[in-house]
Amino acid sequence: MNENIVIRRETPADFRAAEELTREAFWNVYRPGCMEHYLLHVLRDDPDFIAELDLVMERDGQLIGHIMYMRAEIHADGGNVIPVMTFGPVSIRPDVQRMGYGTMIVRHSMRMAAELGAGALCIEGNAAFYGKCGFAAAYTRGIRWQGEPENASSPHNLLCVLKEGFLDGITGVYCTPPGYFVDDAAVEAFDATFPPKAKAKKPAVDITK
Ligand SMILES: CC(C)(COP(=O)(O)OP(=O)(O)OC[C@H]1O[C@@H](n2cnc3c(N)ncnc32)[C@H](O)[C@@H]1OP(=O)(O)O)[C@@H](O)C(=O)NCCC(=O)NCCS
Repeated sequence: MNENIVIRRETPADFRAAEELTREAFWNVYRPGCMEHYLLHVLRDDPDFIAELDLVMERDGQLIGHIMYMRAEIHADGGNVIPVMTFGPVSIRPDVQRMGYGTMIVRHSMRMAAELGAGALCIEGNAAFYGKCGFAAAYTRGIRWQGEPENASSPHNLLCVLKEGFLDGITGVYCTPPGYFVDDAAVEAFDATFPPKAKAKKPAVDITK
């Protein structure tokens, strides 16, 4: 590719633009409207937020992507609490999706997470996309999701071990950081600060299926 791609830390000057980008990327994809721009807005102030892994991607000086990470935990069946990381929302501007930028920012951020000491990442997402970045269904490694049945085998609950052996011999429950659970009314109030946008009654696309 003959273009100037930069991945760098998000700064306060990027905040609103990254939220707009996130809103555009997620709008009507998983539900009518979306909540991910609000998530980004509030998670920056969350104790689990990892500022070093709050990244924007620019192409020729224009914002085209964003990703952010949070600290999370696996509660091992033996009683230990294992620190891991999770990420999301991750967004690529709709007009430049399916051109490899999502893979690029995810892989880049995963390398940074490993350098910061992360042993494993747990996320919810589309296996077709994240499989290309090294993720596999978490249940195949004995990692279950908090709130889901013991024997659930969701293909969307994904795990990637970054440090060899990090989860060897460990089974347990992944706990989504509490900051990801937000109030619908707060999402609506925040969304009202953006230009009006039509919600589709049914999701237009669902890449998790
Ligand atoms: C998901 C997202 C970040 C992927 O970024 P991207 O730049 O479009 O992805 P890439 O071009 O790197 O795609 C790599 C592969 O992932 C898979 N993939 C990506 N987007 C997909 C989609 N919408 N449907 C099905 N597969 C998809 C494909 O296998 C793709 O390879 P291909 O284009 O050769 O078929 C981006 O599409 C996006 O912002 N989507 C809306 C928000 C969202 O869903 N975020 C992720 C939540 S889990």
